[in-house]
Amino acid sequence: MTLSPARRAAGRRIYPDGFRWGASTSAYQIEGATTEDGRGPSVWDSFCRMTGRVNNGHTGDVACDHYHRWRDDIALMSSLGLDSYRFSLAWPRLLPKGKGPVNQAGLDFYDRLIDGLLEAGIEPWATLYHWDLPQALDDLGGWTNRDSAGWFADYATVVARRFGDRVKRFATFNEFSVFTLFGYAFGWAPPSIADKSLHLKAIHHVNLAHGDAAAVLASLVPGARVGAIHSVQPCHPSSQSAEDIAAAALFDEHWNRCFPDAQILGRYPQQIAEAMDPFIAAGDMARICRPVHWFGLNHYAPMFAHADPSMLWGFGFGAVPDDLPRTGVGWPIDPNAFETTLLDLTSRYRLPIYVTENGFGTQNQAEERAELQDDGRVAYLAACVAAMERALTRGADVRGYFVWSLLDNFEWGAGYGDRFGIVFVDYQTLERIPKASARWYAAHVAKQRQQAG
Ligand code: FCB
Repeated sequence: MTLSPARRAAGRRIYPDGFRWGASTSAYQIEGATTEDGRGPSVWDSFCRMTGRVNNGHTGDVACDHYHRWRDDIALMSSLGLDSYRFSLAWPRLLPKGKGPVNQAGLDFYDRLIDGLLEAGIEPWATLYHWDLPQALDDLGGWTNRDSAGWFADYATVVARRFGDRVKRFATFNEFSVFTLFGYAFGWAPPSIADKSLHLKAIHHVNLAHGDAAAVLASLVPGARVGAIHSVQPCHPSSQSAEDIAAAALFDEHWNRCFPDAQILGRYPQQIAEAMDPFIAAGDMARICRPVHWFGLNHYAPMFAHADPSMLWGFGFGAVPDDLPRTGVGWPIDPNAFETTLLDLTSRYRLPIYVTENGFGTQNQAEERAELQDDGRVAYLAACVAAMERALTRGADVRGYFVWSLLDNFEWGAGYGDRFGIVFVDYQTLERIPKASARWYAAHVAKQRQQAG
């Protein structure tokens, strides 16, 4: 792809018309109110209650109390000048048992949120699945059950019928590879299994669920723009040993390829294709590979893989080179990897890319409010945005950027110990305080808008 003459003539204007600037969150991480107004339990409610799974025994019971404070959170986004907000719908809030009766109070909650966003001039981007599978469905085998694709399509039908008059931007899933790998192979997330054939089935059924839901959303929502959100991080071997090189190749297929390749190119990457063969029925690949309008990219850091015979598939996270700086949660910092990823994805999948997550984690400090002057996060975001601009000028088809995250929130296994927000949350009082990074982001967005005229 090359720059259009209009973009070239615009000189300093790097961003295409209509570029979206937003922030992302997810339901379980911010909503709280997990037993209120008829919400059913999710696998994360159960996992948090298992001893030793989440740091300090933290749970999403209260989280950021967004369920009650959503108005304040919309006001925060308005004050930062954001035009788009990516959130997720909690399946167990809408269908407490995952299928069957719909929970009116759950529908009403998202109606209020969506209407509030539209009134504030903020476009709602709804993700249908950000990891909070209804527990009742996990009891039936969850994603290892082939019926799960039908359950998800029925849920998508409820969503499309209720919200499709106002929401046009839908993502089926968030980070397919992360929740399947961590949940069914590494045992680090619910349902905490490590079994090769169950993992392969989960991958395939989630792909089928994506395809079926994409078809439902496209047919029921006039003007729908449907996408899916993938975690893509360049995967390097930790050393040049043959074992580490082979481990990195398989890790790459699992983490970066087996979902977008199946969904957009209609095939599994080579090694996974061979292992997956027994689980693929006639017509499955066509069901998975439905038209989508955009590619959602969550990008944080390059990955380093090594051979690890103690892990289910023989690969694991290896050592990060000493010369790479790290974020406060130990993730390597390499903005060039972001630039390369955007260019590679543009040529591989030929879809408009929205960066649906990018952000910087810190660990709780003794003086928590020291976090308010988050210079490390400002530097990281500025470097990533600069990398995205370089990618744009080199022809990457990027149409929007959403920072992860609007708020500090429940960071899965790390509980409330890791903070990714541009807005600080005091978990005692639930007060929200914008950090230096929020001010930096608002100023950047304002400047870009001004240049766009
Ligand atoms: C991503 C998840 C998101 C958050 C960030 C830090 O993998 O999609 O929910 O945990 O990492």
